[in-house]
Formats: sequence, structure tokens, C-alpha cells
Amino acid sequence: MATAQEPTRSPAEGFTAQVADRTLRIGIVGLGYTGLPLALGFATAGFGVVGVDLDRAKVASVNRSESYLPDLTDIELQDVADKLTAVSDPAALHDADALVLCVPTPVTPEQTADLAFVDAAVESVLPHLRPGTLVVLQSTVPAGTTAGIARTIEERTGLVPGEDVYLAMAPERVDPANTNGWTLLNTPKLVGGVGPESTRRAQLLFEQICRTVVPVSDPAVAELSKVYENTFRLVNIALSLELSDLCRSLGLPVREVVDAAATKPFGFLAHYPGPGVGGECIPVDPLFLSERARREGVALNLVDTAHRRVSERPRQVVDRVAGLLAERGIPAAGAKVLLVGVSYKPGVADLRNAPALDVVRGLRGLGAEVSYYDPMVPELEVDGTAVPSAVWGGGTLAAADCTVLVTPHGRLASDPAWASAPLVLDTRNELAPAGNVEVL
Ligand SMILES: NC(=O)c1ccc[n+]([C@@H]2O[C@H](COP(=O)([O-])OP(=O)(O)OC[C@H]3O[C@@H](n4cnc5c(N)ncnc54)[C@H](O)[C@@H]3O)[C@@H](O)[C@H]2O)c1
Repeated sequence: MATAQEPTRSPAEGFTAQVADRTLRIGIVGLGYTGLPLALGFATAGFGVVGVDLDRAKVASVNRSESYLPDLTDIELQDVADKLTAVSDPAALHDADALVLCVPTPVTPEQTADLAFVDAAVESVLPHLRPGTLVVLQSTVPAGTTAGIARTIEERTGLVPGEDVYLAMAPERVDPANTNGWTLLNTPKLVGGVGPESTRRAQLLFEQICRTVVPVSDPAVAELSKVYENTFRLVNIALSLELSDLCRSLGLPVREVVDAAATKPFGFLAHYPGPGVGGECIPVDPLFLSERARREGVALNLVDTAHRRVSERPRQVVDRVAGLLAERGIPAAGAKVLLVGVSYKPGVADLRNAPALDVVRGLRGLGAEVSYYDPMVPELEVDGTAVPSAVWGGGTLAAADCTVLVTPHGRLASDPAWASAPLVLDTRNELAPAGNVEVL
């Protein structure tokens, strides 16, 4: 009960005070690439955090302070061991004041957003909502998803989002293994709430771990801007692929052309060609934009063309390998092809949607004997069949009929061993020009 010395707080002031004195209890649903860094961020800022994940191996790792992510160390987890607990039963969320949903949003075989994980995560928090609880969705979703969650909350609990409970969308922008210094702390965070108090609460919460939090007028603005960011990248990558095809025909180095354009200090953002795009964001998020546009009867021809262009790139790698081998009188069937780097980007072990997987499929389809080297991926299986792993070195490269640089981890591209390969296909124009190197 409030005394004369302790004036009664409004619920809004209560939330602000709980944030300030770190008594706000935070629940994170999903401890993957986006959820675990967030849980760590809040725990490091002094909040008590309960992380829920269906994957018991991840739960056990977090509780042993063992990281399974590239940017996060065991020591960082050890430092917050008294603040961060992982569990697999969402019942542990019963006393959480703020809940952040960080679950996957893959695509269905029909190329639309698969919101089953989001629906399940919402379902798991519904029993724990009480007046004042803040729920934040971080997963990338088609515009309108948060509004649907608001309807579910109201129908199922009778609590009105924006009035009784608070609901916001705060899309994740984390870039695992980013080498340019962009982290959770310095990457601006968007928040769009259902009503002003939802936005205020979500903004205040994220200001505890992000330097800049940018409020927007509606959750759908946050949802749409997130998928637009990655669509922007997809379209520009597709454009860089077209430039690379032209540069090959002209005999010009595409990377140097892009770098030269990037010396313009305004109005240009460099995108480089490669073997295709992978991960859970760039190949996926533009589909959410297209799907939403289709429902509105709006054509996004440019986006659809870019998606097709980028999706076809691994096939282009395969055709080029076959063409280069044929020029040397080597049939693709039975040819030894070594892929260097198979994860979807340098510095990570992540194989989700990695273009290398389609390259393996295509080369196998031609009867080639495919092996790979990737210091971050100890084992690789494609469609249930293992791809043999090779040891890096001049001997390995000399024994392959064709070596394909797919993902140049670390300093791989400058390793002198490339000189031993009879034939190299460089899908990124990263290797120094040499007689044995062809650029895709
Ligand atoms: N990975 C990235 O670089 C990145 C960047 C920006 C945005 N995103 C988006 O963030 C969202 C999450 O992606 P991610 O990379 O963190 O996924 P992830 O697969 O790494 O992690 C998601 C975790 O959620 C768990 N999970 C699934 N359903 C659950 C449930 N009902 N209850 C508890 N746990 C559950 C899974 O076991 C998994 O550990 C996606 O929408 C993704 O598009 C990802």
C-alpha cells in the first residue's frame, strides 16, 4: 500500500520505474540468432531474463554458459549466469512483465510466410498476459501480422492491446558475424506499437540496450520497413549480378567497377555479385512483400524479377563449371569439383538457404564428384547424402578438376594455395587475377 512518502504510481509510471530499477522481468521466446543476443543484452543491462526455447540442446547450452552463436562468447554468458535462465517450458513466463517473441518465420512451399512459429509463440504467452504486460514481436513478418496478434489477444483474453496490455513490433536487424562493427547496441531499432503507450513502453525497453530507438506510427510501418530493407538488398544484388554478366563479356573486373562507383560519397550503396543469396532474410523477406502486395492486387514486378534472377544464380554457377570443364575436354560426369566455403556468407556456419547447396545438387545432377572445404562447417549433407570434406592445401586444389570459390571465409581468398589449382571459378571476383582463375 502506498504511504505518504510513496505516492501512488500510475501503471505507466510503474512500468517506467520497473525499467529504471531493473525489477522488470523479461521473457524471451526463441533463443536463436536473434533471441539469445537480445536475452544477453537485457541480462547484461541488469534485468532478470527467462529465455524459452523448444530446443532443449539450446536451453542446456545457455544454462551451461556455452554459446552456439558466432558473435557471442561463453564468457559473456557466464557474466550474466545469475540473470539469465533458459527453460523449455513456457510456464516459466508466468511472472514476466515484458515478453519478446523471436521465433522463425520461414516460407511455405507456396512461397508465402509460414507464421506457424509466431502463432505457437503467441499461444504460449497468452495464459501469462495480465494488465500491463508488454508483448513485442521481433520476427520478420508480412505487414498486418501484429494487428492480427492484437485481435487474437483481445478475443482470447479479453485484454485490449493498447489499453490493458501493450503490443509492439520491433523488427530485428542483427547481422551475424558483421565485420563493420554493427551490433545490437549501435544498430538503430524501430518500434511501432498498437497505440501510443505500447510504443512508449517498447521504446523505453529497447533504449536500455540500444543507443537509438526510432518510434514509428504503426506496427505495420515497422513490419513493412523491415521487409523493404531486405528487398532493397535483393534488388541491388540482382542488379550486381547483371553487371557481373556484362563485365565478364567486356573483360572488366566487376568488383573494381562497383568499388569505383562506391567512391561517390552519396546516392550509391555498394552491392557485390556472388553465387546467389542465402540465410533467412534476403531470400525470404521479399516474398513477404510480394505476398502482401498480391493480396492488395498490387504488382511488384521488379521484386519478383530480382528474386528469380538471384534464385537462378546457383544454376549459373553449375552451368559455368560444366562449360569451363568442357572447354578443357573434361566431361562434367565424373569430374572432381571442390567447393570452397559452403555456408551462406563469410564468418558463419549457417547453411540455411545457402546457394552452395543448390550448386551441389546441380553438379551432382551432372554426375560430378563434389567435395568441399569450409573451416566453419565440419560436415555437410545435401538431400540425405554426405558431401566429402577436404583438407585445405595445394595438394587438394591440384587434385580437383575445378575449384569453385563460393564463400571466402577469413583470409581464404588471399591464400597462395589457389595457384596450385588447374582451374578455379571465382563466384565473387575476390581472387587475384591469374591464368587459372575464371570469374563467374
Ligand atoms: N538470423 C538473422 O540474421 C536475422 C536477422 C534479422 C531478423 N531475423 C528474423 O528473426 C526471426 C528469428 O530468426 P532467428 O534467426 O533468430 O531464428 P533461429 O531459428 O535462429 O531461432 C529461433 C528459435 O526459436 C525457437 N522456437 C521456435 N518456436 C518456438 C516456440 N513456440 N517457443 C519457444 N521457442 C521456439 C527455435 O527452437 C529456435 O531456437 C525470424 O523472423 C528471422 O527472419 C533473423
